[in-house]
Parts: sequence; structure tokens; C-alpha cells
Amino acid sequence: MLKRYLLAPGPTPVPHEVLLAMAAPIIHHRSPEFIPILAQAKEDLKWLFQTQQDVLILTSTGTGGMVAAVTNFLSPGDKAICIRGGKFGERWTEICNAYGIVPVNIDVEWGTAVDPQKVEDALKADPEVKAVYVQACETSTGVMHPTKEIAEICRKREGTICVVDAITAAGVFDLPMDSWGLDVVVTGSQKALMLPPGLGFVAASEKAWALNKTSKTPRYYFNLAKERKKLAENQTNFTSAASLIVGLKAALEMMKKEGLSGIFARHDRLARATRAGVQAMGLGLFAKVPSPALTAVKVPEGIDGGDVTKCLRDTYAVTVAGGQDTLKGRIFRLAHMGYFDTFDVIVGLSATEMTMKDLGAPVALGKGVAAAEEILARGKGA
Ligand SMILES: Cc1ncc(COP(=O)(O)O)c(C=O)c1O
Repeated sequence: MLKRYLLAPGPTPVPHEVLLAMAAPIIHHRSPEFIPILAQAKEDLKWLFQTQQDVLILTSTGTGGMVAAVTNFLSPGDKAICIRGGKFGERWTEICNAYGIVPVNIDVEWGTAVDPQKVEDALKADPEVKAVYVQACETSTGVMHPTKEIAEICRKREGTICVVDAITAAGVFDLPMDSWGLDVVVTGSQKALMLPPGLGFVAASEKAWALNKTSKTPRYYFNLAKERKKLAENQTNFTSAASLIVGLKAALEMMKKEGLSGIFARHDRLARATRAGVQAMGLGLFAKVPSPALTAVKVPEGIDGGDVTKCLRDTYAVTVAGGQDTLKGRIFRLAHMGYFDTFDVIVGLSATEMTMKDLGAPVALGKGVAAAEEILARGKGA
């Protein structure tokens, strides 16, 4: 028997409280039983996003939320800055291209965060730009971009909205939508929200809603104005993913018990312990500005990253993510996001040490685990 551990940056483990809630018989999405459940989840999502705005619930993965965040606010021919520092930054450009929005790309070396001055300069050079698209956490590289600073730059411009992919950021680190002036925030269910894949979430500011009135991009399924209207009745426009929303309510209840500051401190502690462990075992960190959601680890010279993820999965039953695109074989990614605690970090580091030994890397067993324990045992930052 192999006991499996899911330590990938999405999907992430789902707590038994949430699994049990979702195992209840299906209820009808327009019924008096379901409406209070959605009403509660709606309120709690506002708490999570730190916003007074409604957080719209879409039946889609996170990418559906990204598509909605583009098609509901801009029109074909509009220009938008896309910050491309990884796979998901590239996705903004691809979505723009698909819908006739003209991307103005800011290319950022993978592993580094965008310099906000570059955004400022690009907006000065092209004042017609209507939106800046960014990842709060670029999951393909493990980097955290300076979302607050970018939002401040957009805030000064009446006609430019700041659109944030918070798919691996919401519920991981502080990203207060209203006080930072984030105009559109997107997340998905299978990350820090501790749910299976299948829900996308989008919230928009008044500045963004004003653009929605003039946006001419064709849309049908992801019509946020219609979703907003329906959400006022505690319903979704189309058939609700009822089981997932029942799970969402349970997951948000757990999150509220921990509190935002507790959630952020836990992620920070687990991330610091993971980074310390990785470095103590002699491996390098890929991200220059690492996110608390995941740690991107450089694969040592002479070893193929594909063998690392395969050995972790097949020998030690630990699922992590490899590198994507040009990072394939060069990095692997250990998550510590969502339903993660002390011993998930220990499992990830211990399995990494044993894998490295198996693959012939000069890693001394136990060093990484010991370094992590130094941080975790003292509960620093908890
Ligand atoms: C930052 C980021 N953006 C977008 C996505 C895409 O989300 P999905 O696969 O749910 O469509 C992911 C998924 O890993 C992500 O981490």
C-alpha cells in the first residue's frame, strides 16, 4: 500500500469536513434549502476578498474567471498591459489575443518579480491602456509580484483598471481588494479555498463595473452583470455547482475560524520552513521574490527534474508539480497552500531528501527536515 500525499500547487488537499459536507444528497439550486447556503458563502467570500463588492461564483476553473475578467470589462481594440513572468502571465496575453484585445506585454525574467516602474513607464508611453493584468502569485515560477504597488499606479489613472489573478494568492497572503484598490480579483476553488476544482470567483470594483457598461466583447456564459443580478437573489445565473457551493460554505467556515491573520501567518511559517529546509539540504530556490503559496526548487546539475517528480510520486507517493515550458526538468514545485500544516512540510522535505539520495544528489538525509523543524517547532510567526 502507498499512502498518497498531494503537495502540488493545485489541486490541493480537501479537508474531511468539506468532503463530508459535499457528500450530502444533491439539493436543487433554486430551492429554499440551497439559497441560505449560497447567501452565507456570498458573505464569507466578501470577507475573504476583503471587499464590499459581491464575489461572483462561476462554474469553471480559474481560467474561466480570467476569461470573464477580460471579456466583461474591455472591448476589442482596447489595449491592455500583460505582465508576462511565467506561464500564467502568458495566459493573460493569450486570452487578450483570443478576444481582440491588444496586449502590451511586459516581459519579466522567469523567477523574478516585475518592477512596478516598468508598469508606470509602459502606462506613460501608452496612456490609452485600459487594464493591467498581473498575477499576485505566478505559480509557474513561485514568484510574488508587487500587486499593491501596481494597483497604486493604476489607481492614479481614471481609465485604467488593475486586474489581479489571485488564483494562488487569495487565502494565502494579504490581498485586501478594497483598501489596495484592486479592480478585478479572480480566484479558483482548488487552491487555498481547499475545494476540488470547478469553481471560479470574480469580484469587481465600481471603476471596473463602469467599464462593464461600455464593454463590447462578445460573451454569453461568463456574463458578470447577469451573475451580479442573480447573486442579489442568492442564486447563480445557470445551474449552480450545488455540491461545490455546499463545500465552499464549509471551507469558508473553517477559514473564518482561523481568521485572516492566522491563515496568512500559517502560510508564511510553512513557506519559511520549506525554504529553509530546501536550502539546508543544499538545493537552490528558483524564485527571487518567493510566494508563501509554494516553493520552486532548482533541480541539481546532472539530475532530470522529471525523474525527481516521478521518484517522489512513484516511490514515496508524494505528488508535487514539475516545471512548465522552459522550466521543464529544471525545477519542481512544493506547495504549502490551503489545507497544509506542519507535517505536510516535513513530508515534502523528507521525501525530497530521500528522492535526492536515490537519484545520486549529494544531499545529507535529515538536514532539510531539521532546518524546517527549527522554524516550525518554535512556531515563529504563528
Ligand atoms: C496563478 C494561476 N493562474 C491561473 C491558473 C489556471 O487555473 P485553472 O487551472 O483553475 O484554470 C492557475 C492554476 O494553477 C494559477 O496558479
